[in-house]
Amino acid sequence: AAPAPVSPTGRDTGADPTLAAQGGEHLTTAHGSRRSDTDHSLKAGRRGPVLLQDHHFREKISHFDHERIPERVVHARGAGAHGVFRSYGTASRISSAAVFGKDVETPVFVRFSTVLGSRGSADLARDTRGFATKFYTSEGTWDLVGNNIPVFFIQDAIKFPDVIHAGKPHPDREIPQAQSAHDTFWDFVSLHTEAQHHTIWNMSDRAIPRSYRTMEGFGVHTFRLLDDEGGSVLVKFHWKPKLGVHSVLWEEAQIANGMDPDVHRRDLADAIEAGAHPEWELGVQVFEDNEEQTFEGIDLLDPTKIVPEELAPVQPVGLMTLDRNPSNYFAETEQVAFNPNNLVRGIDVTNDPLLQGRLFSYLDTQLSRLGGPNWTQLPINRPHAPVNDMLRDGMHQTAVHTGVAPYHPNTLDGNNPFPADEPARPFIDHPAPVAESVKERGAPASFDDHYSQARLFWLSMSDVEKEHIAQAYTFELGKCWEQSVKERQLQSLANIDAKLCAVVAEGLGLPAPRPTVQHGRIEPSPALSQIGGQWPLD
Ligand code: HEM
Repeated sequence: AAPAPVSPTGRDTGADPTLAAQGGEHLTTAHGSRRSDTDHSLKAGRRGPVLLQDHHFREKISHFDHERIPERVVHARGAGAHGVFRSYGTASRISSAAVFGKDVETPVFVRFSTVLGSRGSADLARDTRGFATKFYTSEGTWDLVGNNIPVFFIQDAIKFPDVIHAGKPHPDREIPQAQSAHDTFWDFVSLHTEAQHHTIWNMSDRAIPRSYRTMEGFGVHTFRLLDDEGGSVLVKFHWKPKLGVHSVLWEEAQIANGMDPDVHRRDLADAIEAGAHPEWELGVQVFEDNEEQTFEGIDLLDPTKIVPEELAPVQPVGLMTLDRNPSNYFAETEQVAFNPNNLVRGIDVTNDPLLQGRLFSYLDTQLSRLGGPNWTQLPINRPHAPVNDMLRDGMHQTAVHTGVAPYHPNTLDGNNPFPADEPARPFIDHPAPVAESVKERGAPASFDDHYSQARLFWLSMSDVEKEHIAQAYTFELGKCWEQSVKERQLQSLANIDAKLCAVVAEGLGLPAPRPTVQHGRIEPSPALSQIGGQWPLD
C-alpha cells in the first residue's frame, strides 16, 4: 500500500493514502513503465539534437505545460480547511434537513477568499471576503456560499458582470485599483447607489480582518427552511467566530501585506497545525414566511438590507470546528466547486433576484473552470451520500458505468431510481406562490431605499471606527482622477451622514454637497459595532 502522504514538516496530513498517486517505489511513466533517468533527455549523441521519440521527456514537459487551470473569475485567491459541524438540534423544529438533527456531526470543507485579487494577490487587501462552506450531509451536499459582509452591492444578478468589471484591476496594466486609479469602482457605486451600504462596510475595519479566524460569515440572502409537515420559515444564516471579530489598522495591513502577502492563509494553516482549531457558531434569524416576504418593513428579498439583530435575534443551531489542513492545495482548495444550487431536503431558496442569478452562474462558470460537467467526481466535491444521478459520459468522466444508458421509466434494466420499499425523503419543492404574473424587468419599490441602512451602520460605529471609515473614504477617493466621480460619491455620503461627508470633502479639498434624501429616526445597532466583541451565547 502507498504510504500516507506527509506534509513538508513531516506531519501525517491524515489524507487518504488510496487517493495519493505517486506511491510506487520506482520512477515510472504515467502508464507505469519503469524509467531509470529523469535528468537527461534522449539525444542523438551527447551533444544532441533531442529525439522526438523520448516519451518520458515529452510526457514530463507536456503534463507540466498543462498543470494550471483557469483561476476563478472572482474569489480567485483563497485558503481552505476541513472540519466538522456539530448540530445542536435546535433547528430541527423548523427544518427537516438531516444536518440539523440533534448531535448530528457533518464533515465540512471551508474556503475563505478575497473577491477581486488574482490567485497570487496579497491577503490583506481592503476587500470583501468569501466564506464558503460545503456540508457533506448524509442526504447530499449543502453549500452555504457566503461572505464576511452581510449585504451585497447589487440587487439583481444581471449587474454582477458590471460591478466586477468596475472593481477588478484595469485591463491595460492589470494593476489592482488599490494602487492606481480608482475611478471605475467609484463611478459604479456612485451611479448604482444601492451599492452604498456594502461600500460603507468595505470602508470600515471589517474589510481588513485580522485573520480568517476572526471573521463573521453571512449567507446574505434570505433562505427558506422546510419541515416535514409542509411548514416553512424564512431565515438568514450567520457564522459567529468564537474568537470574536477583530480587524487590523490600515497601516498594519500595509506592513503585513509587504512582509507576508500570505498572512491570512499562513495564520489559518499554522493555527490548525498547532491544534488551535478555529470555531464558528452557526445561527439563524427566523422570519414568518408571509406573502409579502418582509419583516418590520424590511424587504427580505433585498440583498442590500440586513435585519438588525435587536429586531430578530440570531439563534444558535450548531458549532463548526476546522481541524485539518488540506494535504494538497490544488486537489482541495483549488478544485473545490461551491454552488448555491447544492441544497438538501429541508433547505430551499427564495425569490431574491441576486440569489436566483447565482443559481445559474456557479454551475456555468465551473463548466469551463473545471473542464466539463464531471467535477462532482473530484474527491473534494464527491458527496458523502449514495449517488444515482443517471448522468453519463462527458469530459473527464472517471466512473465506469455499466448497463444500458439510463432512461426512465425502464423495464429492461435493474436500475430503478424510485424503489417502492425505500423510506423516501426526497428534496421538497416548496409550492411558493408567484406574486405577479406580468413579465417585466423593473425592481419593486421596496428596493428603493439605498441609504437608511448605510446610515444605520455609520451611526452604530464607535468614534474610532468612524474615524477609520472617514479616512478610508478620503484615501480611496483621493486616488480618483475624475472630479465628477468624487463629487457624485460625496453626494451619496451626504445622503448617509452630513458629518461623514464634511470630513471626507475637506480631505479631498472639495465642497460638501447638501443631502437629497431625508431620514426618519434611526437607532444605532450595537450588534454592528463589535470589533473585539464576543457573541453572547444563551
Ligand atoms: C465565487 C459569494 C454573488 C458569481 C464565489 C465565492 C464566494 C461567493 C464565497 C467563492 C467560492 C469558492 O471559494 O470557491 C458570493 C456572495 C454573493 C455572490 C455571498 C452575493 C450575496 C454572486 C453573483 C454572481 C456570482 C450575483 C453571478 C451572477 C460567482 C462566480 C464565482 C463566485 C462565477 C466563481 C465560482 C468558481 O469558479 O468556483 N462567490 N457571490 N456571485 N461567484 Fe459569487
